[in-house]
Amino acid sequence: MAQEITRIGVSLPENLLQRFDEIISDRGYSTRSEGIRDAVRNYIVDYEWTEEEGELVGVVTYIYDHHQRVLEEGLTDLQHSYINVIVSSVHVHLDEENCLETLIVRGDSKSIRGLADSIMSMRGVKHVKLIGTSTGKLL
Ligand code: NI
Repeated sequence: MAQEITRIGVSLPENLLQRFDEIISDRGYSTRSEGIRDAVRNYIVDYEWTEEEGELVGVVTYIYDHHQRVLEEGLTDLQHSYINVIVSSVHVHLDEENCLETLIVRGDSKSIRGLADSIMSMRGVKHVKLIGTSTGKLL
């Protein structure tokens, strides 16, 4: 179902608009409205991720040292304690030393952040990134 579109007038400082236009042109947007819609969506998703209530979706991805067996066990235990949040996981053996794991998560932001923070604090985990998005109901 197509969403109803409302036209709005926005007042912006000239230099802000100029920079915005440069960026959307660089990114290949065909219209300014398209760029503004994306910016507003990002604004909403960022706001929702600061709230502790409500369901959010995201991806947690991390790289860790495969040789640390205790770590591998710890990561598995951690995933089992977050089964209410983890929807799916993918494991890739990157090279002889490194593994990459990606978790698709769904739940409240506090639990998801708790999971990402726990992974980050484990010794042998080299890099963790949490990408927060939305279920898309408003997008
Ligand atoms: Ni591996």
